[in-house]
Amino acid sequence: MPILVTGGAGYIGSVTADRLRAKGEEVVVLDDLGRGHRAAVDKDVPFYHGHVGDRALLARIAAEHKIEACVHFAALTYVGESVLEPVRYFENNVGQGTALMRALLEAGVRRVVFSSTCATYGVPDRIPISEKCPQWPLNPYGWSKLVMERVLDSCDRAYGLKFVALRYFNAAGATDRQGEHHEPESHLVPNVLAAAMGEKAELSVFGTDYPTPDGTAIRDYVHVSDLAEAHILALDYLRLGGDSDFINLGTGYGYSVLEVIENARKVTGHPIPTRIEGRREGDPAELVADATKAQKVLGWNPEMSDLPTILRSQWEWRQKYPRGYDS
Ligand SMILES: NC(=O)c1ccc[n+]([C@@H]2O[C@H](COP(=O)([O-])OP(=O)(O)OC[C@H]3O[C@@H](n4cnc5c(N)ncnc54)[C@H](O)[C@@H]3O)[C@@H](O)[C@H]2O)c1
Repeated sequence: MPILVTGGAGYIGSVTADRLRAKGEEVVVLDDLGRGHRAAVDKDVPFYHGHVGDRALLARIAAEHKIEACVHFAALTYVGESVLEPVRYFENNVGQGTALMRALLEAGVRRVVFSSTCATYGVPDRIPISEKCPQWPLNPYGWSKLVMERVLDSCDRAYGLKFVALRYFNAAGATDRQGEHHEPESHLVPNVLAAAMGEKAELSVFGTDYPTPDGTAIRDYVHVSDLAEAHILALDYLRLGGDSDFINLGTGYGYSVLEVIENARKVTGHPIPTRIEGRREGDPAELVADATKAQKVLGWNPEMSDLPTILRSQWEWRQKYPRGYDS
């Protein structure tokens, strides 16, 4: 029975849809292409262009496919944008996300894997961050994800919907065919590599006065292929009767912005000019996962998430597709 992948034309969703198919799963993709790319989805995958909150469209998908489970990636994902346009974020991520849950329940779907985020923790009270750390997001994006975690939990209590909310740390890297291509791009790795390619005159470094060894912010980077694998393990876990849960996806190791830049200089062999700017609102100093639960509950072991492998894979993808999915 097919898996509905919402946001399957986006960065992590498209890699996961491919990996599901490689494991022999049937996949149906739903994406409004607001931020995704049609070219990221194989031509022979059933593709529905529309919003996850579109009830009539969801009813049509349910009538045309006997959906077994949903992997729900679709969301707006920019922290800065969410601060400027909170209503848009809550409408899209929570309003439409809740409408999607209603449609899934009406269609008899009782298994969901949800893209949550380390942004739900806000400023963590300790590093590494375990799933038990208090959650108090710093921005509407993080709140929209935290509210969706509550929506899922309530749906479990009321209707027996079983879910795994995966709290990703920083996704990065590429496969042979798919890579990170957003417009505008706010993530460090693609921006560092754009500077190495000469597409950007300078890379902005936001904040050099954080309480970290070199003063720049520290993040835990996870290869997109490792993230995709975690979704497959989460689906298997639910199929075996696993209970609903919240699970971090990180490596337990963090790199500072300057370390990422230095590694990118080595991987690409190119200079990366930088410009120091002030801190961005809503950026905590350090976000590093305690990733032991993912190992224990799902048997997840990130194998490609060392920084040079991440950088090399995205660099090679950009060499092959200089204009990303517009190439
Ligand atoms: N990239 C990261 O580092 C990261 C970290 C933590 C969590 N996440 C979460 O993972 C998920 C995927 O992130 P990504 O980086 O692949 O983002 P992305 O923007 O590349 O993909 C999201 C996709 O969802 C689609 N979409 C958005 N709203 C929609 C709607 N209402 N209906 C239908 N389609 C819609 C977009 O067109 C896009 O293709 C998101 O939920 C994001 O919040 C990402």
